[in-house]
Amino acid sequence: MYVFKAAVLGAGTMGAEIAQVISLSGLPVVLKDVDPAQLERGMEHIRDIYARRVQRGRISEHDAQDRIALVTPQLDYQGFSDVDLVIEAVPEKLELKQAVLGEVEGHVAKTALLATNTSALPVTEVGAKLHKPQRLVGMHFFFPASVMKLVEVIAGAQTEDEAVDSAVEFVEGIRRIGVRVRECPGFLVNRILMAGLAEVFRAEQDLGLGPKEIDAAVAASRLAPMGPYALADALGLDIAQDVSETLKAAYGERFDLGTRITALIAEGKRGAKTGAGFYTYTG
Ligand SMILES: NC(=O)c1ccc[n+]([C@@H]2O[C@H](COP(=O)([O-])OP(=O)(O)OC[C@H]3O[C@@H](n4cnc5c(N)ncnc54)[C@H](O)[C@@H]3O)[C@@H](O)[C@H]2O)c1
Repeated sequence: MYVFKAAVLGAGTMGAEIAQVISLSGLPVVLKDVDPAQLERGMEHIRDIYARRVQRGRISEHDAQDRIALVTPQLDYQGFSDVDLVIEAVPEKLELKQAVLGEVEGHVAKTALLATNTSALPVTEVGAKLHKPQRLVGMHFFFPASVMKLVEVIAGAQTEDEAVDSAVEFVEGIRRIGVRVRECPGFLVNRILMAGLAEVFRAEQDLGLGPKEIDAAVAASRLAPMGPYALADALGLDIAQDVSETLKAAYGERFDLGTRITALIAEGKRGAKTGAGFYTYTG
């Protein structure tokens, strides 16, 4: 199935980045949110990504403006009747995702493909309330989606093969690398990532080291482009904890991220997006 027009639900950390990636490949994309301020922030973020590409000489100013014009920000479902693919990127809450996808199903054609960008919820459960769960796939982009090439494509128990094939084709069409992943808690990447984060956070307590020292050591080792604390801040501490809870329920305490992250979230420090997490951010 060819995607002529896409839509992204949620203009937050992930939704805006995903919409930018889609627009860069020349496809029109509707970016929908329920919060006007978030929608504006999402569009600002997209404009910033293009501005940086222009600065680096990777795209001309004229082409950047053309691509930005492919993104239609909106608060309603206007124009969804000819959308071929909807990617849901609303907060990681099962009931919310079920409700949002159920709602959008009423606004798109029966043949449209639906995708959830869930980090760790079972695709089967996300699609449990849909009329056509066979058209839902997991399409898991990584932060920052404008940079990260990998996208996990996950079939739920009821997903039809053609939907998975179409999702992988779409992912490749927007110049990303699609990996077909079996449905399991954490899928492939988060299962590895969260086990690693939990281990490092435990080591911090056991060894009496601080985030700065550990991040500096990881950066110096060149094993990863950024240290685990900077990464957790970039992901969003609340998102990291939601994912860890799902993995703990499935695999046990080894996925526990410790008490420090809980305390930071309780103080409203949810990472870079809130200006503070393990580190503080300005601008
Ligand atoms: N943050 C990450 O690094 C990351 C990486 C991969 C996947 N994800 C997943 O992507 C999803 C979104 O995460 P995020 O970090 O972008 O969250 P976020 O909180 O930054 O953004 C969520 C957006 O959804 C909007 N929203 C809420 N209800 C809505 C509705 N009914 N319709 C449309 N929009 C609505 C919010 O206003 C907000 O703008 C989650 O499932 C998360 O697990 C996140």
